[in-house]
Amino acid sequence: MEKILITGANGFFASRFMDFYKCRYEVTGLTHSQLDITDLDRTVNIIKAVKPDYIVHAAAISDTTMCQNNPELSQAVNVCGAVNIARAAEACNAKLIFLSSDQVYIGNAGQGPHKETDEVNPYNVYGQHKLNAEAGILDLMPQAVVLRITWLFGLPERDKKINSNLLWNIVKSIMKNQPVSFPVNDLRGVTYVYELIEKMEGMFHLPGGIYNAGSENDLNVYELAQAVFKALGLEDRTEALLLKDLRDSQRDLRISNQKLKANGITFSSSEDAIGKCISDFSFSMKLS
Ligand SMILES: NC(=O)c1ccc[n+]([C@@H]2O[C@H](COP(=O)([O-])OP(=O)(O)OC[C@H]3O[C@@H](n4cnc5c(N)ncnc54)[C@H](OP(=O)(O)O)[C@@H]3O)[C@@H](O)[C@H]2O)c1
Repeated sequence: MEKILITGANGFFASRFMDFYKCRYEVTGLTHSQLDITDLDRTVNIIKAVKPDYIVHAAAISDTTMCQNNPELSQAVNVCGAVNIARAAEACNAKLIFLSSDQVYIGNAGQGPHKETDEVNPYNVYGQHKLNAEAGILDLMPQAVVLRITWLFGLPERDKKINSNLLWNIVKSIMKNQPVSFPVNDLRGVTYVYELIEKMEGMFHLPGGIYNAGSENDLNVYELAQAVFKALGLEDRTEALLLKDLRDSQRDLRISNQKLKANGITFSSSEDAIGKCISDFSFSMKLS
């Protein structure tokens, strides 16, 4: 059996990834308490002992506000830690798949959908540090696969972390009967976490380089939220619970998946992915 090692094992993505692949691969998950990726020697030694065929690097400070407020921590984990993982991958000749983010596109002058070749100039710490990590990793290992993924969503599961995400945030506000607002000037895709996980196996065999990976989307975030209400069968509650955030500041993080498609990997649209998640979980909020 081939071996996968995944970092950030208690995280939202990795905890689901490990369960999904545990019968097809020998999967070793390393939590933060088992390995602090900022420690280069331990990182190389621990990973060398596992001798993985593939390393999925999912550990990070993933909260953008935390990165903004603690740039030194973000630099240590999201940049130096990621490069440490590349050094370990190099030491054991493993294929590295690194989870970067669509936030690298946050300062782009032009409109999306953005391509991997677009000039980027992220204005937040998280986006800049993901970009620096990409460069550091590819410098060491041109054969590494860097995935710029969009905002992930999913629903809570036993023994697995749930992060703030579009679907779950809306479900929570409906449960509390509390209105929630979403920006009309924010354009970005959202990706169903299990759709990304399912496609990861294909990513192991991509040629090295940067790939946008996740659901494309033409809707603004308010319209996406409307799609969530619709998929939940709660259109009648939209007017009372879903508000427009009309702030001027425009953000366009939309990705183009052309490069990944040319390599045979496709994703559903963000709207279809929302429907798929609700259907996978047989999730209903209707009281009938
Ligand atoms: N979720 C999204 O919407 C999204 C979108 C784009 C990109 N990404 C990227 O995808 C990856 C996975 O995201 P996620 O949502 O699963 O993140 P997550 O839930 O925050 O998980 C990240 C994990 O990394 C661990 N970690 C933090 N510092 C560490 C360190 N110094 N050494 C080792 N482990 C450390 C955390 O452990 P502790 O909590 O115990 O510290 C946590 O379990 C991240 O790289 C993230 O930046 C996520």
